[in-house]
Amino acid sequence: MIAIGSDHGGYALKQELLQHLAGQGVETKDFGCYSEASCDYPAYAKAVAGAVKRGEAQLGILICGTGIGMSIAANKIPGIRAAAVSDCFTAKATREHNDANILCLGGRTVGPELALMIADIFLSTPFSGAERHARRIAQIEEE
Ligand code: RB5
Repeated sequence: MIAIGSDHGGYALKQELLQHLAGQGVETKDFGCYSEASCDYPAYAKAVAGAVKRGEAQLGILICGTGIGMSIAANKIPGIRAAAVSDCFTAKATREHNDANILCLGGRTVGPELALMIADIFLSTPFSGAERHARRIAQIEEE
């Protein structure tokens, strides 16, 4: 299952993404928000990050206006590696090198076609498993 959340700034893109992933047979869970009414992004970041941290979701996607607020909030949760991404190279690299477990997108900064392409790349790219990358990721969690 892929956990997905947004605030009002990412709501429209989230609706497109949910439809796109459903068309591919990808199981998703929408953690809100559920309208374009103004709301606060940290609650949705925490809900999706919690589902990923508990292993209920393999990966998560968070969308706000820029992707930045969501990534800052999600990265407060231990074990979460949330990457704000706006290009295809980074979408692939952050899975291969950082084993990023949450993709953050900007509904106001990335066009919908590019955003869907970024999501497809992120969801289909495995962590490389290279020792140097695993070592660096482990260092992130150290005090
Ligand atoms: C909401 O206006 C906006 O601040 C939010 O969607 C996001 O861009 C924050 O980083």
